[in-house]
Amino acid sequence: MLASMPKVSLVGAGPGSSDLITRRGFKVLQQASVVLYDALVSIELLNEIDTDIPKIYVGKRCGEHSLLQDDINKLIVESAYTYGHVVRLKGGDPFVFGRASEEIEYVESFGIPVVVIPGVSSAIAVPASQGIPVTRRGISSSFWVMTATKKDGSFSQDLKLAAKSSATLVILMGVRKFREIATEILKYRSKTTPFAIIQNGTLDKETCITGTLLNYKTVNKDINTALPGIIVIGDVVAEHPSFFEEELQRVLNSGM
Ligand SMILES: C[S@@+](CC[C@H](N)C(=O)[O-])C[C@H]1O[C@@H](n2cnc3c(N)ncnc32)[C@H](O)[C@@H]1O
Repeated sequence: MLASMPKVSLVGAGPGSSDLITRRGFKVLQQASVVLYDALVSIELLNEIDTDIPKIYVGKRCGEHSLLQDDINKLIVESAYTYGHVVRLKGGDPFVFGRASEEIEYVESFGIPVVVIPGVSSAIAVPASQGIPVTRRGISSSFWVMTATKKDGSFSQDLKLAAKSSATLVILMGVRKFREIATEILKYRSKTTPFAIIQNGTLDKETCITGTLLNYKTVNKDINTALPGIIVIGDVVAEHPSFFEEELQRVLNSGM
């Protein structure tokens, strides 16, 4: 059977919790003929849509056998011809480290129309869910969202540039390399700079480990490196409840 109207909607599912998708995203999701979803998309969200339509997992997680990007691109096009309306459901916002541009380019080369429904990115929502503002008047007036490493695994130049700035650093896909990241950042930032590592953000099982760059080695053993997470580094992390202790505030305020 050839579907009469092949089309693709790239929908941002939000940072984790099923009710953090946008209203428009949810509406489009309910109109899908097939859903191709990523690793960090909530199962509760998938359970809320029509059970009769195919929901195909195309996630890429470290350490698990997964489809290559080329295979995903092809599957999107094949699914559009077979079923009609493909919802390509991606964690957070499709354009934040989501390889959305590659998928759009490929799908459009077949003359299939694509729309993008933005999503709430984990880069901001996950720190916010822990009460950590990425900016705060008088403390941090900007933030960098980055991955620590490049395609070949080496450190990105941006990590160094960001560390040299006074911006809040929000690092995605860096949990496994936390030790190396902290070592690199310590070259440019004070030892008392606070950091947070948040995993399962916005979900019931959300965890947050905080510390200062000074003690990064001791917290490193508490991190479950099998789980994705977000690293936030900068003085705004002191807004987290675990940083309310007077002494740390005193040290931070003294600018040491
Ligand atoms: C491939 S990137 C995709 C980011 C996504 N497009 C977004 O805007 O949130 C995946 C990374 O996002 C971060 N991430 C996404 N959801 C998360 C969550 N709920 N808790 C912690 N980290 C999360 C992790 O660093 C993970 O390795």
